[in-house]
Amino acid sequence: MKEELENILKEAHQLEFEIKTLEDLENFRIKFLGRKGLLNNFVEKFKDLPREERAKIGEYFNYVKNEIKKIYEDLKIKLEKPKKIKFDIAHPGEKIEIGYLNILKESIKKIRETFVKLGFDIEKGREIVTEYENFDSLNMPKFHPAREMFDTLWIKNKIGKDRYLLRTHTSAHQVEIIKNKKLPLRVAIPGKTFRHEATDVRHEFQFHQIEILGIDGGANLQELKGVLEIVFSEFFNKKLDVSFKASYFPFTEPSLEVYIKCVICNGKGCQLCKNSGLLEVGGAGMVHPNVLKEAGLDPKEHYGYAAGMGIERLVMLKYKIDDIRLFNSQDLRFINQFRL
Ligand code: DAH
Repeated sequence: MKEELENILKEAHQLEFEIKTLEDLENFRIKFLGRKGLLNNFVEKFKDLPREERAKIGEYFNYVKNEIKKIYEDLKIKLEKPKKIKFDIAHPGEKIEIGYLNILKESIKKIRETFVKLGFDIEKGREIVTEYENFDSLNMPKFHPAREMFDTLWIKNKIGKDRYLLRTHTSAHQVEIIKNKKLPLRVAIPGKTFRHEATDVRHEFQFHQIEILGIDGGANLQELKGVLEIVFSEFFNKKLDVSFKASYFPFTEPSLEVYIKCVICNGKGCQLCKNSGLLEVGGAGMVHPNVLKEAGLDPKEHYGYAAGMGIERLVMLKYKIDDIRLFNSQDLRFINQFRL
């Protein structure tokens, strides 16, 4: 019986080379695979065999049937003419979704561009810095009370003598930048910063800042005020005056808080600005002599300004976002609103 199957397969292989048209192929199918074809005929015969033999032959039968099916299907693909593709020149194209920057990245880009226009270099910094960079170099030695408001996440393992931490502010790069760049310098450093923080609508444990640093070449508070006014006015698309108020930071002397006219009420007074007409948008000052010394400069000969701003706060004001945590929420209902 097996022989019979072998002959069927042999015949199929021989015929394979004679098939030139779809009609030939259909005849091939009817002959071997059709309802009354050779294979089905064979099934009729081996139905009556004893069980064991039936199983053996059955296995071979399946093999032969699959081989013949394969011949048939391969030839079918070969012989069927490729469908003609109709090309309709007026058919509307398929829209390709183009990605876009997250509103935060888009805003940082815009702010960066303004600084570049003003002649600033953009520096990147690092998210992990040493304790020295984040604190000591900025006139905040160990046990300085100001360290408390910059509590952060520490890296467990020391590398050499240094302890590492997630930077609490972009100011951490001031000394290194003053040391490594040619004077006079004008630099802006945008980047992510971290604080140990109980989060709420206005506080996040990770957020972005931009640091501004100007050393020598006439770098004074008047210039800084002008720079900030241009940066804020461009960002909010309206003319905004900047005002300063005395404050305290260990790394500046004198130290200032930076205010803009409230962008919600235009300075008239509202809930957001607590009727002051002003919004605090950052800290600033003249670089402290100890910081200059730390960078290897003589404070009698060199001078400069520094400022730092939180970026989320600016974006929240511009787009009327009332919860800072939305930036990290991955909520598409939030993200997709800002397809600019
Ligand atoms: N680093 C400060 C903070 O994160 C902000 C700041 C204040 C930066 C005064 C400065 C500065 O450069 O001069 O709160």
